[in-house]
Amino acid sequence: MKVLKCDITCLDVDIIVNAANNTLLGGGGVDGVIHRKAGKELKVECAKLDGCETGEAKITNAYKLPSDKIIHTVGPIYNGGNHGEAELLKKSYLNSMGLAEDYRKENQKEKIAIAFPCISTGVYGYPKKKASKIAVDTIRKINNPNINVIFVCHSDIDYQIYLKNVHGIKLSC
Ligand code: APR
Repeated sequence: MKVLKCDITCLDVDIIVNAANNTLLGGGGVDGVIHRKAGKELKVECAKLDGCETGEAKITNAYKLPSDKIIHTVGPIYNGGNHGEAELLKKSYLNSMGLAEDYRKENQKEKIAIAFPCISTGVYGYPKKKASKIAVDTIRKINNPNINVIFVCHSDIDYQIYLKNVHGIKLSC
């Protein structure tokens, strides 16, 4: 596992993950950037997928983006934490990793790299520390040596949270 602070759409990796909504037709946040930079063809392909349930994931081409594929997953909207949000967020990571492993096998790649944004922690309001723990613990438990997971942070606060959770590093300045 690695932690990067950058724009996920700049990464030349096999797969980037999109924090989508149930329509899969784009929106704001990282979803908006991914759709804008991938180009119009992405929405055309997404429109054929008939949406995506919360916690589920679907894969598309990445078009004008440097990555090969995009996995669109829909994280939960945080509603206090007593409505199954943690389980749904965990499912988003599990299902995304399942699709990534399918992609790796179908394309006969020995190893692949996948980049995750901090799913549900923007518009969907999931508390950053709680979400990061779920993300890191879920990926750690999957423990797939053939998939190099990169957690992409867009803000300093996320970066510091992930550095601590992934590498045990605490930034003091
Ligand atoms: N690269 C990496 N991370 C990014 C980028 C980017 N270019 N832009 C935003 N982010 C980060 C945000 O800082 C946040 O940490 O992605 C994380 C997820 O935030 P959102 O994009 O708001 O996603 P989410 O909270 O899951 O809400 C999903 O927002 O954009 C809409 O259509 C989307 O309805 C859906 C909802």
